[in-house]
Amino acid sequence: MGGGQEFEWKLGQMIMVGMLLMVGCFYAGTLYANNATIYASQLSSSSSPPSPGTSTFTNKIALTYRKTPPLIPETGINVCPLNLNEYIPCHDVAYVKTLLPSLDTNRREELERHCPPIEKRLFCLVPPPKDYKKPIRWPTSRDYVWRSNVNHTHLAEVKGGQNWVHPKDQFWWFPGGGTHFKHGAPEYIQRLGDMITNGTGDLRSAGVSQVLDVGCGVASFSAFLLALDIQTMSFAPKDGHENQIQFALERGIGAMISAIATKQMPYPSSSFEMVHCSRCRVDWHENDGILLKEVNRLLRSNGYFVYSAPPAYRKDKDYPIIWEKLMNLTSAMCWKLIARKVQTAIWIKQDDLSCLQHNSEQKLVDLCDAGDDSKSSWNTQLRNCIQVRGAQSDSPKLPSRPERLSVYSESLSGKGVTQEVFSLDTAFWQDQVQHYWRLLNVNKTEIRNVMDMNAFCGGFAVALNDSPTWVMNIVPASMSNTLSAIYNRGLIGAFHDWCEPFSTYPRTYDLLHANHLFSHYKNRGRQGCVMADILLEMDRMIRPQGFIIIRDAETITARIQDLAPKFLWEVESHTLENIEKKPETVLI
Ligand SMILES: *[C@@H]1O[C@H](CO)[C@@H](O)[C@H](O)[C@H]1NC(C)=O
Ligand SMILES: *[C@@H]1O[C@H](CO)[C@@H](O)[C@H](O)[C@H]1NC(C)=O
Ligand SMILES: *[C@@H]1O[C@H](CO)[C@@H](O)[C@H](O)[C@H]1NC(C)=O
Ligand SMILES: *[C@@H]1O[C@H](CO)[C@@H](O)[C@H](O)[C@H]1NC(C)=O
Repeated sequence: MGGGQEFEWKLGQMIMVGMLLMVGCFYAGTLYANNATIYASQLSSSSSPPSPGTSTFTNKIALTYRKTPPLIPETGINVCPLNLNEYIPCHDVAYVKTLLPSLDTNRREELERHCPPIEKRLFCLVPPPKDYKKPIRWPTSRDYVWRSNVNHTHLAEVKGGQNWVHPKDQFWWFPGGGTHFKHGAPEYIQRLGDMITNGTGDLRSAGVSQVLDVGCGVASFSAFLLALDIQTMSFAPKDGHENQIQFALERGIGAMISAIATKQMPYPSSSFEMVHCSRCRVDWHENDGILLKEVNRLLRSNGYFVYSAPPAYRKDKDYPIIWEKLMNLTSAMCWKLIARKVQTAIWIKQDDLSCLQHNSEQKLVDLCDAGDDSKSSWNTQLRNCIQVRGAQSDSPKLPSRPERLSVYSESLSGKGVTQEVFSLDTAFWQDQVQHYWRLLNVNKTEIRNVMDMNAFCGGFAVALNDSPTWVMNIVPASMSNTLSAIYNRGLIGAFHDWCEPFSTYPRTYDLLHANHLFSHYKNRGRQGCVMADILLEMDRMIRPQGFIIIRDAETITARIQDLAPKFLWEVESHTLENIEKKPETVLI
């Protein structure tokens, strides 16, 4: 959609837009000031007097479902009972159980997102667990997090021997191990670099800047790739390995809940130089290799698929036959096995058109109909075919980071974003982020996990690149796909539809940035994304005393300002200039 209307705010009408800076202050000041949280005292008696030094609030504790239209009590949004402190609406085991008969469990469909219908969604604030503490700051958090924040022992019990995570006093300690790197991720990363470069370099010199880690565990792989300035999108399902993603995010490592099963991943095509699976519990050889074809979609050309799992090295059980299937499938896709050593096999995805055409004639592989793979991959069924990227080859050789951050993708020009608009946007956010730091008035180390809920070209994330943060860039699926361009800048992110909750644990972000998000959803006419729904989801994702920045049209920010106290948020309103240099209210 050339110059689509969603960018109209960029192109300058006369709206006055505002910014709210808010502190998602769930019981601010009380949680840490005294050990007995106000929450606990509320539980025992909802009329107990507030403890000294706490702000009073009148919200009731009650399991409350979403009404249509949403009902906001005079006393504020109700608070969910304590046992719901890990509530993830679209990954709710009890709800998925009710769907099981209609799910394709052979393909693990049950691990994917399943959002309950609107009337089955909770409409209450998700409380923190007992003894919740403000997360330990990066980089210490890479190795230690508070036990009370992720109070699950299961992972340590089953994975302790593989050195994933150990209890240590009131902390969880992450020695940096993983199923295939008991001796630590750095050594493993070095080995992969040796394998790819034949001992002449490391992953970075092999051109790897962006990695997708499938079934990432506690994301130690990603944590240690950072030393090479390699950015990783890590994901894992919410399954028997309890709370892997919660651990990862608590550590300050970019990750989300997801599963590769029946639908395309919410990441754009040609976005990664490496897809990594270390005992990731995915049956790549099944269903005609349909999941490998999804990997093929996600890899940039000459990208690597790294596979560390028993079929790559064991000769017992059915491993040899699985290996043979993998070899057949990968050669049909014209991937080339470039190394197989210790416990790891590595393929390279060659964009070899004549090989693909040959294999297609031999009926070894199907090529997709010349379709458009630049659309947002959101709620899209997997396709059992290979997309051939023809002349439109949007894959010029990208520089490594940090140069990659300023790459302008040609694909943007078809979406009404000229090079000029892009540069303006980049400069604008550099400037705004300076203002944000001034207004937030916190030590930069206080903010690690950041989400830009409407990321456009990623300018906000680029401007944060020098601070100790990582940014999850979200491009709403109902907007044009600018996420490919964000990936081409060496950043990570995902498509999402804010009419549904996001696939993350509660309290996992320190800062949420919502730039003209509410105005986009204002007239969607769809259930589940009126202002109160989106605010509620933001409240779920933000950690206590985290920050929320909202910029939008005056009418919208004014309403949010009215609603915020019902969510127990403290609001400050500021005015900054928008890209047209018009004043814009900023809520913090
Ligand atoms: C962790 O959970 C256990 C029960 O599963 C509970 O007994 C314990 O008090 C909890 N610890 C913290 C610090 O919340
Ligand atoms: C690595 O070196 C060996 C022997 O020198 C050679 O046979 C092999 O093709 C090389 N592999 C790569 C990936 O360059
Ligand atoms: C792999 O391909 C070969 C040649 O087409 C075929 O004979 C063999 O049965 C295939 N192996 C498996 C496990 O499918
Ligand atoms: C920010 O916090 C870090 C770590 O706690 C500390 O070393 C540093 O001095 C602080 N910086 C400022 C400006 O307060």
